[in-house]
Amino acid sequence: MKGKRIFLLLAIVGVAMFLFGASINAKEACAVIDVIEMNNTEAFAKHKKGICVFTHKKHSTAAPDGYGVTCGECHHDKDGKALELKEGDAVQGCMECHDKTEKPKKTRGMSKEEWETMQLEYYYGALHANCKDCHKTGGAGPTRCSECHPKPEK
Ligand code: HEC
Ligand code: HEC
Ligand code: HEC
Ligand code: HEC
Repeated sequence: MKGKRIFLLLAIVGVAMFLFGASINAKEACAVIDVIEMNNTEAFAKHKKGICVFTHKKHSTAAPDGYGVTCGECHHDKDGKALELKEGDAVQGCMECHDKTEKPKKTRGMSKEEWETMQLEYYYGALHANCKDCHKTGGAGPTRCSECHPKPEK
């Protein structure tokens, strides 16, 4: 009897160690970072607004644990075509293509289309369009400035 119990115990410990090991490996292979502090110092000499904390992994995790946004809704190729990605795939930073720095300035007489195209050339415009458009059209997620850019604590 006693021998059997010890065997059972060892078996349980073995399985637990195996599962634990597997979970560590999964973490090592995973390139989808949990949370990204949006603090691009290449695009902005100085951040005037509070730093937006972006829950990257939560956005791309399926409901009900996450918001179920597919990688390709944010990551696309050089033609703007959605990329089919999986965990571990490398991606290009938004700044590699939407590479103008600071904020776009609308000039007089610019049409709506021209202004929209121009904004997308900027990292600033690409990020705001991606993040805010989905929150607006999807009816979920923050659209007000201070919800993404927290006011510094006084
Ligand atoms: C859905 C989230 C979201 C909302 C809502 C939002 N922003 Fe942003 N904003 C961002 C992100 C992300 C960046 C890019 C920051 C980075 O990567 O450095 C950014 C960048 C900026 C920057 C340039 C960086 C800085 O701090 O100076 C300014 C200015 C800014 N936003 C102003 C605004 C204003 C004003 C509003 C409201 C009209 C607003 N944002 C609404 C997410 C948001
Ligand atoms: C809601 C939008 C969104 C979704 C969904 C999303 N990402 Fe991202 N991801 C971003 C943004 C924004 C960045 C930051 C890019 C930058 O700084 O230019 C990023 C960064 C990354 C990075 C680089 C991280 C680093 O700095 O090393 C990788 C890799 C990545 N994403 C992979 C994925 C994969 C794989 C998926 C799907 C499982 C995914 N992303 C889903 C928006 C998203
Ligand atoms: C390899 C180049 C490249 C990279 C990297 C890239 N984009 Fe784009 N993006 C484009 C092109 C090309 C278009 C389509 C042309 C246009 O409308 O300016 C586009 C279009 C967009 C649009 C408009 C989409 C629409 O449906 O109107 C948004 C918003 C956007 N990108 C945000 C992002 C964000 C956020 C990232 C980083 C997570 C990113 N882009 C990374 C090249 C790129
Ligand atoms: C395709 C849709 C989509 C895109 C793109 C998207 N989001 Fe969201 N976001 C959501 C949804 C859905 C929620 C959840 C709202 C809820 O449950 O109340 C959310 C919630 C949030 C929240 C509040 C909750 C949290 O997890 O912190 C923040 C902040 C946020 N998003 C920032 C961003 C930023 C920054 C980007 C761009 C880099 C972005 N989102 C792009 C769909 C999107």
